[in-house]
Amino acid sequence: MNDFIRLIKDRRSVREYTDRPIEKRILEEIVDAGRLAPSARNIQPWKFLMVTEKGKLSEIAKQVEWGHFIKDSTACVVICGEKGVKRRVEDCCLAAENMILAAKSLGVGSCYVAALQKDVEGVRNLLNVPENLEIVCFLSLGYFEKNPEPHDKKELEDVIHWESF
Ligand SMILES: Cc1cc2nc3c(=O)[nH]c(=O)nc-3n(C[C@H](O)[C@H](O)[C@H](O)COP(=O)(O)O)c2cc1C
Repeated sequence: MNDFIRLIKDRRSVREYTDRPIEKRILEEIVDAGRLAPSARNIQPWKFLMVTEKGKLSEIAKQVEWGHFIKDSTACVVICGEKGVKRRVEDCCLAAENMILAAKSLGVGSCYVAALQKDVEGVRNLLNVPENLEIVCFLSLGYFEKNPEPHDKKELEDVIHWESF
């Protein structure tokens, strides 16, 4: 098994973080990995808003359903897609996964927090997210002490099919 496959197998959503701030250079590296994700017709209809101020993180945590742990993170990427671009959601999700794996490789834990079909208008106002952008998801980030226990995953033989169902 190579190091990258090992990293994928070891990754968990991390919701408990230490107080150690993430260096700007590391945050930029994470977003850079998102920027390089595949994108339908290479439109790259995304903007990544990095939030590190404690007060803002606490406010986002209050506003976003199932995102209370964002208050304990040291950074949160607000991943936004350009409204009107057909494949914006897929594009943003692929960027998110790139960032999740890049973060892991840099020792930073992360958790994807959904925004679609949730009321995130309060976050839009808090962060001045322009009306032409849709908040697709949040990515909480932080250094962590222990990798969470593995979640149950379906076995390969239960999900893989060859040639035909
Ligand atoms: C589309 C999507 C939406 C998610 N939304 C949330 C969320 O709102 N809050 C949360 O705590 N975790 C959220 N997660 C993280 C999942 O709960 C997590 O990936 C799942 O439990 C599997 O655990 P693992 O990531 O450690 O393998 C989301 C993940 C995905 C892919």
